[in-house]
Amino acid sequence: MSALEIDNVCKDFGTTRVLEEVSLAIDSGEFLILVGPSGCGKSTLMNAIAGLEPVTSGRILVGGEDITWRTPAERDIAMVFQSYALYPSMSVRGNIAFGLEMRKVPKAEREAAVERVADLLQISHLLERKPAQLSGGQRQRVAMGRALAREPQIYLFDEPLSNLDAKLRVEMRTEIKKLHQRLGTTIVYVTHDQIEAMTLADSIAVMREGRILQLGTPDEVYNNPVDKYVAGFMGSPSMNFIDATLQGQAGDYRLHVITDGEEELVLPWPAERETPALAEHVGGTLTLGVRPEHFAEEDARLGDRAEGTLLSARVSVVEPTGADILLQLPLGDGEVTARVGPDCRVRPGERLDLRVDMRRGVLFAADSDTRLA
Ligand SMILES: Nc1ncnc2c1ncn2[C@@H]1O[C@H](COP(=O)(O)OP(=O)(O)O)[C@@H](O)[C@H]1O
Ligand SMILES: [Mg+2]
Repeated sequence: MSALEIDNVCKDFGTTRVLEEVSLAIDSGEFLILVGPSGCGKSTLMNAIAGLEPVTSGRILVGGEDITWRTPAERDIAMVFQSYALYPSMSVRGNIAFGLEMRKVPKAEREAAVERVADLLQISHLLERKPAQLSGGQRQRVAMGRALAREPQIYLFDEPLSNLDAKLRVEMRTEIKKLHQRLGTTIVYVTHDQIEAMTLADSIAVMREGRILQLGTPDEVYNNPVDKYVAGFMGSPSMNFIDATLQGQAGDYRLHVITDGEEELVLPWPAERETPALAEHVGGTLTLGVRPEHFAEEDARLGDRAEGTLLSARVSVVEPTGADILLQLPLGDGEVTARVGPDCRVRPGERLDLRVDMRRGVLFAADSDTRLA
């Protein structure tokens, strides 16, 4: 039995369909991340789970029980929003205990819950302060504490970190991961930050225009995307998309890429990555997807053992990030991004030999963006 099941949920606002036959199920203790561009329906889905928005059709089940038509108070679910409002006149203690008080939890139990979450979130020393006396990160912890004070069946987090600065976000991300590991709670978490998605999730649902395009583990959505949209959405910098013509036949497929309108690069497609769908596209144009990290600076020391196809390109931009270096270089009819090691000494305008690992490449139909191989 699933901890949470969304069964064919549709949601209309007036004549606009915002959720289109959304179905998913998660197990108890699972951390599900919803990602997708702004306006794709993430918050609407969360509000439907919480009971803040009625669905137009479909069902929502918690622990096997149909809760579709229950009020928010009748659902055993706690939610943390992007813009969390703390009560300014109440202390941190009062803010954390407030929801319990509303639910008529006895005082001794309330106090024990406050101590427990304060300890967990390391805000025990702040309990008597007012929200105005807290930093942004501390306020965020209090908002989280308010949800954690209860022990509901499911927690919903809707972009809880998006108002924090970059450093704090990363710290809080780790805190949330630790919390989940420690408490083993079932969580549905919305973010548009795909690093947050990759690092926190047991499973990721990639949404677009009210639909779930792919539901899978972080590894599956990153390495085995169902289509070009998911491939481009997950990963930063994004996957490179290169127009290529498919030539050859089964056992010997090659991708021809024209660079600068003249030079032709031939990339053999690994036999183990062939699919029957390729046969129908010989002579046609496909989109080759290559992630930045699947380029590598040619290493002469590896000699014949080096993996991948060698190419040479004039580097146009060099962007050191500290841990590695991002290079922009012309390939196909545009520029691609390659991620190389921090010791690469190439300068803008110089030529560089790179290998591209085609075993990690993906192929999409140029017209429909569906995955071919
Ligand atoms: N109360 C509402 N009335 C009408 N349209 C809404 C309402 N809430 C959201 N929408 C629309 O539904 C779509 C999805 O919104 P939302 O779920 O907030 O997206 P996300 O959280 O993914 O950014 C958007 O086009 C938005 O304008
Ligand atoms: Mg939203």
